[in-house]
Amino acid sequence: MRPLRTPALLAALLAAAASSRAADGLALRPPMGWNSWNKFGCNVSETLVRGAADALVASGMKAAGYEYVVIDDCWQVGRAEDGAIVVDKERFPSGIRALADYVHSKGLKFGLYSDAGTKTCAGRPGSKDHEAQDARTYAAWGVDYLKYDWCSSEGQDQKDSYMKMSRALRASGHPIVFSLCEWGSSKPWTWAQGTGELWRATGDIVDCWDCSRSWGGMGVAHIIDQMQDLYPYAGPGHWNDPDMLEVGNGGLTPAENRAHFSFWALFAAPLMAGNDLEKMTPEVKAILTNAEVIAVDQDPLGMAGRKVWDDGAREVWMRPLADGSRAVILFNRGSEPAPVAATWADLGLFPGGKAAVRDLWHHADVGVASGRYEAKVEPHGVVMVKIEPQF
Ligand code: GLA
Repeated sequence: MRPLRTPALLAALLAAAASSRAADGLALRPPMGWNSWNKFGCNVSETLVRGAADALVASGMKAAGYEYVVIDDCWQVGRAEDGAIVVDKERFPSGIRALADYVHSKGLKFGLYSDAGTKTCAGRPGSKDHEAQDARTYAAWGVDYLKYDWCSSEGQDQKDSYMKMSRALRASGHPIVFSLCEWGSSKPWTWAQGTGELWRATGDIVDCWDCSRSWGGMGVAHIIDQMQDLYPYAGPGHWNDPDMLEVGNGGLTPAENRAHFSFWALFAAPLMAGNDLEKMTPEVKAILTNAEVIAVDQDPLGMAGRKVWDDGAREVWMRPLADGSRAVILFNRGSEPAPVAATWADLGLFPGGKAAVRDLWHHADVGVASGRYEAKVEPHGVVMVKIEPQF
């Protein structure tokens, strides 16, 4: 074959870049918002969603960066003769377009859920063989975000199915963040960059610390373990998704809630609150709106963190930040308080250097340390600090 001449090669590369999703500039930071599933399951309605949008604003969460209001499963009940998706009229009497308009009127963005197979996980109609039609419907409604599940997909190929909807969304002409949800089954971190902006990396989160369920659901501590090797795959426009937040849903202690939120920030994970925003306690709100932890999650470098030290119950995790500092989690998995130390060598800093340490949960500068920083960590808890080398 005759090799492409340079200008032709350049043109081909430019065309490829222009047609890729990355060129859309979607989700250059991990998406933040609220999703109905973890707390409300199928009990969704326009009243609930309007209330969530109102609460997102009133609570200060919108100001903290939460943007997307996403209805998960169960808003859809069937298909019309022409194949159009039919909305549950009892729960959404004003229709989805009106609800999206309401969410937009609050300065927020609106998301929906569907499934790559014939049925959603709750048995509602999936989008298989209706991809283009559904994508056009979403665009006409003003949908800004689509979570796309993997139930009832027997015999389908993940790459083909997700690419089909990705192309349909792109062809709809409306910028729609595409959230892949096949639970890590085909290692989407190895192929989904360019297909969507985020992919679920694990099974469903359960509102517990370290329980696990026969159907694949698991608690926060197990998800943290599953995320350990995925840090190289995250970056602007393509994020690992360890599932939506359980902060505030009642199954975690305050220390576990803080650990959960800290790790999601270290992973550069999407921060999709999954609690009842209208009824959250001041303590839960303070966790979800911790600006210093959110700044780690949203750091423009977009590098996810990794484990750098482990002696069994005690671990140190580190995320490099755009300003040259490190976000660090001192983690205690044990059931007694324990001292945990990060050394500059483990953090990739000059071992004999000095660094300023700031505690991101106490919102306090704790001083300048040399070579290492040690703190006492509560059970199932973290101390999260930002460590900034001094030159
Ligand atoms: C799957 C997903 C969940 C949720 C439900 C809805 O289990 O992984 O996040 O969307 O389906 O039925």
